Amino acid sequence: MKILAIETSCDETAISVLSGQGDSLVLEKNVIYSQIDIHKKFGGVVPEVAARKHLETIAPLLENTLGKNRLKDIDYLAVTAGPGLVTSLILGVVSSKTLAYVSELPLLPINHIEGHIYSNLLSNKISKKHFPALVLVVSGGHTEIILMKDHGDYQLLGQTLDDAVGEAYDKVAKLLDLGYPGGPIVSRLAAKGDDQAYHLPRPMLDSQDYNFSLSGLKTAVLYALEKQKNISQKDVANMCACFQKAVIDVLLAKTIKAAQEYQVKSIMIAGGVSANAELKKSLAAAAEKINLPFFYPELQFTGDNAAMIAAAAYYKIKSKKAKPLTGKNIFSLEPEANWQLVKNNV
Ligand code: KG4
Ligand code: ZN
Repeated sequence: MKILAIETSCDETAISVLSGQGDSLVLEKNVIYSQIDIHKKFGGVVPEVAARKHLETIAPLLENTLGKNRLKDIDYLAVTAGPGLVTSLILGVVSSKTLAYVSELPLLPINHIEGHIYSNLLSNKISKKHFPALVLVVSGGHTEIILMKDHGDYQLLGQTLDDAVGEAYDKVAKLLDLGYPGGPIVSRLAAKGDDQAYHLPRPMLDSQDYNFSLSGLKTAVLYALEKQKNISQKDVANMCACFQKAVIDVLLAKTIKAAQEYQVKSIMIAGGVSANAELKKSLAAAAEKINLPFFYPELQFTGDNAAMIAAAAYYKIKSKKAKPLTGKNIFSLEPEANWQLVKNNV
């Protein structure tokens, strides 16, 4: 089965061609045009600018990626239909609808978060014996603990009540005047800092649920900085280390508690923040202690990409968990900015 996937949910225009057979996936093409340098100047993603850039980029990128063969060997089309910036999503959705119309290929809309989860299956040998799996989703817009019972079968165990983890990293980076996106910069500086230098709270660490609250942590960083007159580079590194330690302590405690309560067979991490080396190291050690395999995506698949969308589509079609749109139904597809992978029942 060969799938062409398109992802434009935020500021990356991404296209992939993936072929799958059984549990083996071959990524034939994977291109990502990142707009990060454009949005950096504004300290965050500007939706209108992102949409315009997707519009300029997507047709030439498709043309270059597909080459002479065009859609000749493709069996299915897949596209991120949400969640994300609606102005960005619409470019991918309209492009995939047009391709589906002219080629008469079936089209499967994929949830962006589900895509992030499947980035794990691009890099690891994961099979049915690893389900149920406990998935910690940590991205710029989402922080969730999800029980993945099988392909396409999820239960939401907990989520952030305010900021997402990536968002918290980005906001702390802004407070420290470090640039955008903050996650990679904060984590790099954290490695050089003392994680005991400041006392920061561990919000909701002892709450009896799997929810998170991270906005208070950012405020605690702000207050600690305001108390201090001169902030040296060492102080900045120390603050990054303390903030990161507080985040990891909370993520780790809840993930491991959920893994034990639900007696899962593996733990996975997904989303942009899964690039964080310290978080991966801590989770790997904690998973080993309770004898569970721990999976994480390769660095090239931690951020937004279309390979993860193709992988999700492959497994959903193969396991008959989703029916791609065909014929006139293709026209009914619209982007859904707030598409929840699992309905909120926590
Ligand atoms: O999944 P993603 O690429 O986009 C969304 O779907 O939101 O996640 C982007 C987020 C940003 O907030 C970025 O700062 C964060 O992931 N991030 C990191 C690291 N690399 C990216 N956060 C912490 N440590 C990192 N190494
Ligand atoms: Zn993402």
